[in-house]
Amino acid sequence: MTTKVEQAQVIRGLEGVYVSTTELSRVDGERGRLFYRGYAIEDLAEQGSFEETAYLLWHGHLPTATELERFSQQLAQSRRLPARLYCVLYDLPRETTPVTAMRTMVSALAAWEPNADATTPEAELYHARRLTATFTTMTAALHRIRQGEEPVLPRDDLSHAANFLYMFHGREPSAAAARAMDTFLVLYADHGFNASTFTARVTASTMSDMYSSVTAALGALKGPLHGGAMEAAMRQFLEIGAPDNVDAWFERALKEKRRIMGIGHRVYKTWDPRARILREQARILASESDEPQWFELAERLAERTLQHPYFQERRLYPNVDYYGGLVAYYLGFPPEYYTLLFAVSRIVGWTAHVMEQHADNRLIRPRALYTGAEELAYTPLQAR
Ligand code: CMC
Repeated sequence: MTTKVEQAQVIRGLEGVYVSTTELSRVDGERGRLFYRGYAIEDLAEQGSFEETAYLLWHGHLPTATELERFSQQLAQSRRLPARLYCVLYDLPRETTPVTAMRTMVSALAAWEPNADATTPEAELYHARRLTATFTTMTAALHRIRQGEEPVLPRDDLSHAANFLYMFHGREPSAAAARAMDTFLVLYADHGFNASTFTARVTASTMSDMYSSVTAALGALKGPLHGGAMEAAMRQFLEIGAPDNVDAWFERALKEKRRIMGIGHRVYKTWDPRARILREQARILASESDEPQWFELAERLAERTLQHPYFQERRLYPNVDYYGGLVAYYLGFPPEYYTLLFAVSRIVGWTAHVMEQHADNRLIRPRALYTGAEELAYTPLQAR
């Protein structure tokens, strides 16, 4: 007998399915617009800051000057790690990929965090700040330890972006570098119900804690279909090698039906608005760098795709990771850290989504249409 449920239509990959409402971000793929709580990311990137963006996503409104100052201080004062966590960082095998290491570190952080399981609104605001602040400290320390160098302790007189660069590289960043890092962090903070955010919400919907949700989200982000594109885009530019190689490489890629990394998007059918902003930051950083050729190369390749009928017909445009990888490169990050840079910013969105889920929770528990064997006769072990 076929039940009602068994007749249900299966939507693979949940493509086009609305599973919840959210007030956090709106992605308008046709117009190429992205809004956080109604504010255009262009305005937040140009006139705001990462701290303002985090406040907006977590508290629901833009902060006043006093609120922002207090919030920035609280975030800065949340940067220090329990000493034992450095031992965990030193103990991890060197060959562990940075994302795997950080997935472990977030989980470990919960073990040293009092009240990690608390899910009241006040507790979750604290945990969101703590996770966001320490994520940069742990990422930077991981890198320094792997370089055979001492971790750099956080400073609380620097912005979130500047302090991260300071801890990672061991020197204060230039104003342009701090600005580019801040813009990068604003732009990656939230993006609807992408795979890692959905994972965070599924975990939160069991009324599990924020650390578990972020650990789970990192596991989802790690896959090459999600968080890996920024690294792949930059490695592609490095593989091409020089602007003059672009045309031949592009023709070969077309012939081999190879995907151009950093091009195309499931939702945006025009320019990804984040790509436009990061393109400008990459241009500025390239002009101050002694390796301006990577920006020139990327521009040439983007132009080839934009002019080609194959890409025009399919409405494939540069996405955030195309220029995000370049910005990360010019900021001195090794490509194997790019997925983590995504997380350094998206942790704000993940934690905001956990709070939104908990504010009006409903267990997320879909169903699968069973297509396996039915009612088989069990054969005892000795008779098989
Ligand atoms: N290069 C060449 N062809 C492409 C590309 C590309 N980058 N992207 C899509 N196509 C083609 C694809 O081959 C297909 O052609 P056809 O119709 O002849 O079979 C058509 O365009 C539609 O592709 P699709 O895979 O059905 O499109 P999708 O919406 O499922 O894929 C995508 C979106 C992002 C996975 C894809 O564009 C892609 O693989 N891009 C490269 C990887 C990348 O940059 N990923 C980062 C995404 S942005 C991250 C974020 O928002 O956080």
